[in-house]
Amino acid sequence: MTVSDFLEQHNERAELQLMEFLRIPSVSTDPDCASEVARCAEWLAEHLQHIGMPTVQVYPTKGHPIVYAENLQAGADQPTILFYGHYDVQPVDPIDLWTNPPFEPTIRDGKVFARGATDDKGQVFLHMKAIEALLAVDGKLPVNIKLLIEGEEEIGSPHLDPFVRQNTSMLSCDAVLISDTSMFAPGMPSIVYGLRGLAYLQIDVQGPNRDLHSGSYGGVVTNPINALAHIISQLKSIDGRILVPGFYDDVLSLGSEEAQGLNDLGFDDVRLMNDVGVDTLVGESGFTSPERLWTRPTLDVNGMLGGFTGEGAKTVLPSRAMAKVSMRLVPNQKHHDIAERVMNFIQKITPPGVTVRVQDLHGADPVLVPRNTPAISAAVQALEETFDTRCRFAREGGSIPVVLLFDTVLQVPTVLMGFGLNNENAHSPDEHFDLGNFRLGMKAAARYYQLMAASATI
Ligand code: BES
Ligand code: ZN
Repeated sequence: MTVSDFLEQHNERAELQLMEFLRIPSVSTDPDCASEVARCAEWLAEHLQHIGMPTVQVYPTKGHPIVYAENLQAGADQPTILFYGHYDVQPVDPIDLWTNPPFEPTIRDGKVFARGATDDKGQVFLHMKAIEALLAVDGKLPVNIKLLIEGEEEIGSPHLDPFVRQNTSMLSCDAVLISDTSMFAPGMPSIVYGLRGLAYLQIDVQGPNRDLHSGSYGGVVTNPINALAHIISQLKSIDGRILVPGFYDDVLSLGSEEAQGLNDLGFDDVRLMNDVGVDTLVGESGFTSPERLWTRPTLDVNGMLGGFTGEGAKTVLPSRAMAKVSMRLVPNQKHHDIAERVMNFIQKITPPGVTVRVQDLHGADPVLVPRNTPAISAAVQALEETFDTRCRFAREGGSIPVVLLFDTVLQVPTVLMGFGLNNENAHSPDEHFDLGNFRLGMKAAARYYQLMAASATI
């Protein structure tokens, strides 16, 4: 039996097991979910043992645990692949907009709906099934495989950095493989070679010592919500240019050859507009959508809080306001530097009568990975054979904080071979994962490990 046959035969079982994984509410940012996050790590560890990984360990951290497993039985003359993924998920709100409860996975139209389905549990799980199939059919793996699956990616991987630095020999490898990105479009398997970074700030504005009657006090006391709106409106011009001094100093401009490659992918603006229900796309003038999305920085408000938001009207001058603001960054911006610039600028533009506190919640530096490594060639071949079509090279607008760390600490190339789709509602209600891509992903992953074997000819 071939590995591919094995995967076909056990496909239904794999889907049911994935649903078990999806049922665990491993929301890393929510303190109330901490025990569920820990349970999820244990579930993963148990499943890794079940598929035949000889060494499996759950490492506690000051935050959520890191799951690590390895099978080095292929021996010293075979390469070692480090697979990285995350088992934590984003919060589920607004929960009313889910068709099915987020942790009660449901299959509809060949897709599994649940929080974490595409980001990243489905994509992590397909590697576990690929490894299981290789072990079941061949009795051993074609290469040495290490799996590092963390529970804090969605909150900026705060404890992974020290873990990687303290365990460089355990994690030493020839290539890193990550499946936590998207394909350029349905039926178009892709390798991603660039990710944007992130700087995430919380702005708290404090005005009067209590909520006030807006008739008795309005006009002489600064309203913190107005002040916050004023601050936010000064951060970015209406045409998308960020107004923080020095913000663009380190932005690398895109070479014409690379721009052509990205624009030749055939990015479909109309499809995107229809998909998200807007009638126009915006952004800095002189840039195409893929350039704006993947190669230019942004600044967005993620949420705001303050004042009276209940039914009807209440005349109040609130005492506080809060906003969460994030910036997507591009090479060679550094998130600490950008956070500092924005914090300084906010202090300068704060109106009198309120005090502002800005916290740097977390961040990630942008990254570009080389496209000409043997590990990339193997991934291209695995994708092309499995999907029976040409593989694309794209960049993405999201962030995976650890990629730069692997590059600098482990000094090995990273392959971003993802099987999600951008419209699978990651971070949003009704997140889902296409089960056709789950199936092909399992086969492509298995093929990748085979092609990385020293004996394989590419
Ligand atoms: N899977 C995403 C990263 C991603 C998103 C890649 C979109 C390609 C396209 C990842 O889980 C994620 O959401 N990361 C966070 C990181 C942040 C919290 C530091 C992100 O990008 O918001
Ligand atoms: Zn993810």
